[in-house]
Amino acid sequence: MSSILFLYSTVDGQTLKICRRLQALAEQAGHRATLADLEQDAGIDLAPFDKVVVGASIRYGKHRPQVAAFMRARRAALEAKPSAFFSVNIVARKPQKSAPDTNPYVVKFLRRIGWRPRQVAVFAGKLDYPKYGFWDRQVIRFIMLLTRGPTDSAAVVEFTDWAQVDDFGRRVAAM
Ligand SMILES: Cc1cc2nc3c(=O)[nH]c(=O)nc-3n(C[C@H](O)[C@H](O)[C@H](O)COP(=O)(O)O)c2cc1C
Repeated sequence: MSSILFLYSTVDGQTLKICRRLQALAEQAGHRATLADLEQDAGIDLAPFDKVVVGASIRYGKHRPQVAAFMRARRAALEAKPSAFFSVNIVARKPQKSAPDTNPYVVKFLRRIGWRPRQVAVFAGKLDYPKYGFWDRQVIRFIMLLTRGPTDSAAVVEFTDWAQVDDFGRRVAAM
């Protein structure tokens, strides 16, 4: 049995939903799993955990700055134990951009922080037009128009492939 910390950086909750699923999987497999908000609990003590998993969503081309800041500040502790990273974004709904080495945000982010977690994953997120403010909705609709996604302003579409999440959960348990 190991103790796993899942740290999430989310705006609309999809990354947290994925972490909750990973937590449930880990607990079913007999591990202890703890969830924490990376932005609110950036000072969390990593020592009590055997493994650390960081999940972060993309907004306007970037993970939130706290994610890279956390990795920079905690690099020694993170490198001392098995750790994993996953990114959540809407571009990952495209099969050719759905892997860690083909998703542009993940490739760029890992290159920039210069740290290679033991496991990396990328999951397609959720589109929720009714939840967005006016300008965000217009921008996302325009991007969807360009990339042939849903443009109906009432659309709510969860692109997350839960089988992929489960597979990542098994890899995390085994690392
Ligand atoms: C304002 C806004 C900007 C976004 N920008 C991007 C983007 O640049 N690239 C992308 O792939 N997805 C983008 N997304 C999609 C989010 O990454 C996706 O909705 C994800 O599920 C959000 O995860 P969260 O709920 O954990 O924050 C954007 C979403 C919103 C609302």
